[in-house]
Amino acid sequence: MDRRWWEGATLYQLYVRSWKDSDDDGYGDLRGIIGQLDYLEWLGIDGIWLSPTMPSPDKDWGYDVSDYLSVHPDLGSLDDLGALISGAGERGMRVLLDLVPNHTSTEHPWFIESIASRQNGKRDYYVWADAAPGGGPPNNWVDFTGAPAWQWDAGTGQYYLHNFLVEQADLNWWNPAVHNEFDRILRFWFDRGVAGFRIDVAHGLYKDALLRDNPPADGAGPLAGRFGLRAQYNENRPEVHGLYRDWRKVADGYDPPRLLLGETWVPDLASLASFYGQDDELQLAFNFPMVFAAFEADDLASVVGRTLDALPAGGCPVWTASNHDVDRFPSRWCGGDQAKIKLALLVLATLPGTLVLYYGDEIGMTDVVVPPELSRDALGGTSARPSRDRARTPMQWDDSPTAGFTSPGVAGWLPVGDPAGCNVAAQRNDPASVLTFCRELIMLRREQAGPADSRYERLAAPAGVWRYTAGAVEVAANFTGQPAALQEPPHGSVLLSTAECGQADPAVLAPWEGLIFSRTPR
Ligand code: GLC
Repeated sequence: MDRRWWEGATLYQLYVRSWKDSDDDGYGDLRGIIGQLDYLEWLGIDGIWLSPTMPSPDKDWGYDVSDYLSVHPDLGSLDDLGALISGAGERGMRVLLDLVPNHTSTEHPWFIESIASRQNGKRDYYVWADAAPGGGPPNNWVDFTGAPAWQWDAGTGQYYLHNFLVEQADLNWWNPAVHNEFDRILRFWFDRGVAGFRIDVAHGLYKDALLRDNPPADGAGPLAGRFGLRAQYNENRPEVHGLYRDWRKVADGYDPPRLLLGETWVPDLASLASFYGQDDELQLAFNFPMVFAAFEADDLASVVGRTLDALPAGGCPVWTASNHDVDRFPSRWCGGDQAKIKLALLVLATLPGTLVLYYGDEIGMTDVVVPPELSRDALGGTSARPSRDRARTPMQWDDSPTAGFTSPGVAGWLPVGDPAGCNVAAQRNDPASVLTFCRELIMLRREQAGPADSRYERLAAPAGVWRYTAGAVEVAANFTGQPAALQEPPHGSVLLSTAECGQADPAVLAPWEGLIFSRTPR
């Protein structure tokens, strides 16, 4: 087995509750995935990342874990997960789980012990602090709803920290016992053939030992901080790197090495690069500056250029544009326009590194506005933080009222969007569809992709056009609504175009057209 199978690979984030329901309870599940493995293989996927699968009271849909060593009964069993891992393996695909080490559910047995008394052996598993000298929370940190990140416990007379919901208590990573627990958890899953983890809130595990106040945010936007405060002391602490060096040793002790893919929600590319260490920490780290880049040539090219400059030698970049926390890129970047959706897929898939698709990206699924009475996201849905439900609605398999996600007449946990045209069945045999195009891109990627560090170079191009070479291909992408003529015609032949009938002359791009050329001269 290839030691670095993820380099140049295509991963697929699968939000389990929304993908395929096998038992008609309205929730997607592991058996549902097993039944659709042929689809993922057909699409050309190398690995799937499953959103949380562990038991949880679901205040934050699995991101509030109450047992790290089992499977949520809504989703299946350990045996089902084993069957999924082996079924995927038979088709050449790996399975990654979502690991949530920043916090547990307050229903986790560790927390139940921790809150029982100050003397309890598990007290220091969590971040407890006295009230401020004048009373009130220990500092100015806020949680993801904008409320104080501290919850008072009258029973023991202290506050506990929750960077997310009150029901998600932050673990205390200064405590070596917490390290030991997670060492066991990593090995438990790796021993069962799990190929790696997406690590939730990977940048956030350590908190400032002095619990200092956060400073005001420098700017606005999703990467600047929370509710006007820069997350300097409740996240982004340097001590987390030592932990990832330890975890990397564990991951590298397996054959093939297990993959650590961080949710590294950091605003700048130098911080992002730091999570790769000297190729001795995480092997992959999500690039949020790319997610939030404007959909235009210069901004995207700037993030890509700066990312590649920042990463250490051998560091493999990750390109993604949608996930379960942000609006889907076909809406956010493309306003549902099919030409733009194909263009976005084309650039993401031709950059050197790992591509992570979010379920539905391959058919150009857009956000679905979920009415407040059907909302399921407790962390969103306020004016400060829009509901994330819109990007979590059921996968659209066909054009039936349940979109093929569940059986006719069963109400899904979230409403389905309008599947007309935007569904797997309709697109699978349509040569002009987003799905056909996406699959062709993945196939081309498999044939042409060089190693992760295959050289990328931006080439001169007219305003609004992003032209570059990457590995064995050259790309010209027109981010304008006007035709654009390339000053210097490409050397190689056209391998793939986003346009159904582009310009007759490949040196002239149609509006929003993207072209991939071979770098081998014709
Ligand atoms: C991560 C997850 C998000 C969750 C949060 C708290 O950002 O992606 O869905 O709400 O962590 O676990």
